[in-house]
Amino acid sequence: MCGIVGYVGDQLPSARPLEVVLEGLRRLEYRGYDSAGVALVAPGSELATAKKAGKLVNLVDELDARPLPAATAAIGHTRWATHGGPTDANAHPHVSGDVAIIHNGIVENFALLKAELVADGVTFASETDTEVVAHLVARAYDASKDLTDALTQVARRLEGTFTLLAVHAALPDTVVGARHDSPLVVGLGEGENFLGSDVSAFIASTREALELGQDQVVTITPTSVSVTGFDGEPAQARRFTVDWDAKAAEKGGFRSFMDKEIHDQPQAVADTLLGRTDTTGRLVLDEMRIDESVLRSVDKIVVVACGTAAYAGHVAKYAIEHWCRIPVEVELAHEFRYRDPVVDDRTLVVAVSQSGETMDTLMAVRHAKEQGATTLAIVNTHGSTIPRESDAALYTHAGPEIAVASTKAFLAQITAAYLLGLYLAQLRGNKFPDEISAIMAELRQMPEKIQQVLDRADRVREIARWMADTQSVLFLGRHVGYPVAMEGALKLKELAYIHAEGFAAGELKHGPIALIEPGQPVFVVVPSPRGRDSLHSKIVSNIQEIRARGARTLVIAEDGDEAVVPYADEVFSVPQSSTLLAPLLTVVPLQVFAAELATAKGLDVDQPRNLAKSVTVE
Ligand code: F6R
Repeated sequence: MCGIVGYVGDQLPSARPLEVVLEGLRRLEYRGYDSAGVALVAPGSELATAKKAGKLVNLVDELDARPLPAATAAIGHTRWATHGGPTDANAHPHVSGDVAIIHNGIVENFALLKAELVADGVTFASETDTEVVAHLVARAYDASKDLTDALTQVARRLEGTFTLLAVHAALPDTVVGARHDSPLVVGLGEGENFLGSDVSAFIASTREALELGQDQVVTITPTSVSVTGFDGEPAQARRFTVDWDAKAAEKGGFRSFMDKEIHDQPQAVADTLLGRTDTTGRLVLDEMRIDESVLRSVDKIVVVACGTAAYAGHVAKYAIEHWCRIPVEVELAHEFRYRDPVVDDRTLVVAVSQSGETMDTLMAVRHAKEQGATTLAIVNTHGSTIPRESDAALYTHAGPEIAVASTKAFLAQITAAYLLGLYLAQLRGNKFPDEISAIMAELRQMPEKIQQVLDRADRVREIARWMADTQSVLFLGRHVGYPVAMEGALKLKELAYIHAEGFAAGELKHGPIALIEPGQPVFVVVPSPRGRDSLHSKIVSNIQEIRARGARTLVIAEDGDEAVVPYADEVFSVPQSSTLLAPLLTVVPLQVFAAELATAKGLDVDQPRNLAKSVTVE
């Protein structure tokens, strides 16, 4: 899950290649920030490289102290360490002779290949799997004098996952890339072309792009882009126009991308709803490219996803089962993949992913397809692998999510899951058209209500700052409040490095209540008192139980819910909504809380330690 950028332009050697690559790395830093590095090529010169452990700023400082010469082509890398610690030596590019290589992924057979090279007298300068590739490509190039051919030959020998970019000192107008199970997109410019792990790498320069397919090799020069398969035969890549603008990938005046993305949520939900109904109010999801008869005959849905996306899947389960009466299972993708799940041609496997590149989720999709299931991706990132490999795709329209911790993508995933549930209910006749229209009308009010939650968030921030020294926070919820509680805990863990646990409130007395001691902060997500009465009164009892044992109760409840007031140390109120739609509101104070508490602790909320935005290794 490293970030990769490549550039080639037809100007005379200049600073532009380095500038483009550094700008691309800045935008891709969310993919990993253990180290960063660049390699530059100019006519008649040797390769010029620089690399530094730590965040991109360390590389920039190094380049200020020791500037590199002007160039015509460049590659750049931001690393999330897999093989070898985050040191200068293990940072990419890795150089062998006149070849420089950068890599995203894992070469699983690297030990074998390395042994072969060592036996042949090659010495290694790093502990990485990638350096093996650099030596192999340099040798293949020496034999064929053709960089595309050399990278293709080596790609065929590699097992694992990889996107590789290669430059050669003798080729100042060429960058070659290859991909297998890892993303690579091409940006199409005028007299210049780009490569990137995703479009944000080059969005400041062009919005015209090509999405490379599996096992393809691309060779870019300033004026040409040619794509071949690992078999060396010409291949097709899909052209598309990026609908994000560069500004959407900037902080927009907020102190962090995460703060901005939390505030983008009303728009993310509104955009995800946009254009999904016709003039009569019927849901129209033709874009999914899926045969209606398949959706009518489905007898089970399995949602596969990881982390926050899996919690969106849990919300989907409550909604889809209630609206469509189809059994829905939710499973962490990595667990699904490595057991023996019962799926067949009447199962719809729904993969939920912001990045569309999460390897665990991709593997689950492949496994489901092998078992004959129909696969549908709910994904935010166009040009990514999961929707391409799925039978159908429903895009969320959250825009680029840069902060590592997911926020607006989560709300957009829940929104898309509601759309899917309502669409299935419409197709299968589980709901009357006016019932669906009524739910859609309520959904359309949600962006405004999310905005109201944001407008009231000062008190949450204040409490978060007071709690900066807290060691442990618990989160309780029932029904759709349960995944919200788990998401609240995950946000706090990953941003503030605080022990946090989310529980189903009903589970409390089966064990977790033993954790309650005087002063223990507990967030409780309360369902609407206007919904199923028993649900609300049950959780009010839970609040009383923990309060009686000294817990500090931080209650998220609907406007006008007086029943919680006597037992709450703090009430964070959210606008009224129906129970199933409430997660779009109740999770927002928990996101704000985690971001503010982490900021109060002086932590980097956009790039929490040990994490990367897209987890493209299993
Ligand atoms: C948490 C978070 C992760 C991701 C998970 C799946 O804030 O961002 O838990 O949700 O890694 O990522 P995607 O949605 O890209 O498949």
